[in-house]
Amino acid sequence: MSVVKTLGQFIIEKQKDFPYAKGELSRLLRDIGIASKIVNREVNKAGLVDILGEIGTTNTHGESQKKLDVFANEQFISALTCGGECCIIVSEENDDAIYIESEVSQNAKYIVAIDPLDGSSNIDVNVGVGTIFSIYRRKSLDGKATLQDALQKGVDQVAAGYVVYGSSAMLVYTTGKGVNGFTLDPSIGEFCLSHPDMTIPKDGYIYSINEGNYGHFPQGVKKYIKYCQVMDEETHRPYSSRYIGSMVADLHRNMIKGGIFIYPTTASAPNGKLRLVYECNPMAFIIEQAGGRATDGFERILDKEVTSLHQRSAIFLGSENMVLKAEELMKEHSPEIGRVIDIQSASSLDSDASKVGNL
Ligand code: AHG
Ligand code: MN
Ligand code: MN
Repeated sequence: MSVVKTLGQFIIEKQKDFPYAKGELSRLLRDIGIASKIVNREVNKAGLVDILGEIGTTNTHGESQKKLDVFANEQFISALTCGGECCIIVSEENDDAIYIESEVSQNAKYIVAIDPLDGSSNIDVNVGVGTIFSIYRRKSLDGKATLQDALQKGVDQVAAGYVVYGSSAMLVYTTGKGVNGFTLDPSIGEFCLSHPDMTIPKDGYIYSINEGNYGHFPQGVKKYIKYCQVMDEETHRPYSSRYIGSMVADLHRNMIKGGIFIYPTTASAPNGKLRLVYECNPMAFIIEQAGGRATDGFERILDKEVTSLHQRSAIFLGSENMVLKAEELMKEHSPEIGRVIDIQSASSLDSDASKVGNL
């Protein structure tokens, strides 16, 4: 008889990895799991009821919000607010951080950053979408949690995960001790451990990038794409190109099969498109925990200074040797981008130093 282990059981079992844990992080993860099941239910029936299409409002980035974006955002905010473990929520769909000050959250220690519905343009066509989340512990010791608590570097994450709403729904998460994946069994309504100790192959043969933007890419990225397309038996090239346009779905496939996902800077998006706090950092944490690599082409994503909630970053992540090759070509052919990144990190360090000086 095969024994099923549910997400809830697994989380409780893993609590012993953290000797001083009081179960708060476990409860937070459980709350996220519950909200994602509700979102999955709505995603599954999106074609049946009138929740497709745009609602006519725009989010903080000027992008039109889909009804399901709004629905998913509400579900996660409500689960995290009622759960009592979260003091700040940062969401792609909200301009400002949400400070939770309810009775149950008085001693809440955790900050959750979330992309409630990733790849939402795919909803209209019944293609995979996802949720991305990132969890930090507050640093301020007492009083109300502050914006600085929400602006921690990716390396300070205590947990991160994603849910892919695909042909099955799957929740994948890490608390810094490897990566585990759970598939939703609709017959019992539970995420069940299906992918224990996930690892990404060191070498992969898939590259995922929006090649329509080729003309706007940095020279280093253009060279890498050409490298992927060259015929070479020894290195199994040409590689396959696969791009869904949902980071969660693209990354999930590459994690299992081996591959690289790139969203570089472009002429029209000089800082990249994807958001550091709730897209790049959580995915980088997961990929590193699975044995892969995640950088902006020059600097490790998890070490990047976080200066604003909706900050953008270029990202190259996936199989280690593929990312290393792409970095090599970036350094050789696009060194000017590396210099800009150096200047940006130096100026954010300066402003940190001046903050310390003002204390
Ligand atoms: P979101 O739906 O949360 O705004 O994210 C969409 C993101 C990401 O999932 C995807 O990789 C990327 O945008 C696709 O962008 P392009 O259409 O520019 O390729
Ligand atoms: Mn997204
Ligand atoms: Mn989104």
